[in-house]
Amino acid sequence: MRASDIAGDLDRILVTEEQIHDKLDELGARIDADYAGKDVLLVGVLKGAVMVMADLARHLTIDAPMDWMAVSSYGSSTKSSGVVQIRKDLDTPLEGRHVLVVEDIIDSGLTLNWLLEHFRTRGVASLEVCALLRKPDAMKVEIDAKYVGFDIPSDFVVGYGLDYAERYRGLRDVAVLAPHVYS
Ligand code: PRP
Repeated sequence: MRASDIAGDLDRILVTEEQIHDKLDELGARIDADYAGKDVLLVGVLKGAVMVMADLARHLTIDAPMDWMAVSSYGSSTKSSGVVQIRKDLDTPLEGRHVLVVEDIIDSGLTLNWLLEHFRTRGVASLEVCALLRKPDAMKVEIDAKYVGFDIPSDFVVGYGLDYAERYRGLRDVAVLAPHVYS
């Protein structure tokens, strides 16, 4: 889906499809170099990370297996408390693995904060984060993310995996949602 297909729902495009792919190329080259000769496992967090995982993996030259986790927070109160519930666990044991968590966005940081703590208890050899987007002004906890694509303002963004009520995930760009859609 292109921005022109849903122009009335969008305020403005924040990151274009081309900028996303240029950035993934750059991040992919760094990841290739950093993990050369190492066995890295890419861990994606459903559903938002689907697009970035699919494209990042294709920008890598190393052959990295993928696994997926689904987590949920029940309502905004749970989300703000940082308590995360695992709805689908990984299929792969993490013991001794070099794990790279792939995320679409770090917003408050609470999801990743919980996940990283959780993964550390599983005996990983190393643990790093690759996030396409980060909202520095919205972060409630410090997240040490090694690979970050774009720092963006705290607007309501959709596209490239990010949704509003399950819509707009298929948009090729990242765009700011028009307020009339959600207010
Ligand atoms: C989004 C996103 C991250 C999380 C980031 O997922 O994919 O996992 O929120 O927010 P945080 O930094 O404030 O914790 P969401 O819970 O919306 O589920 P989804 O990926 O299925 O859309």
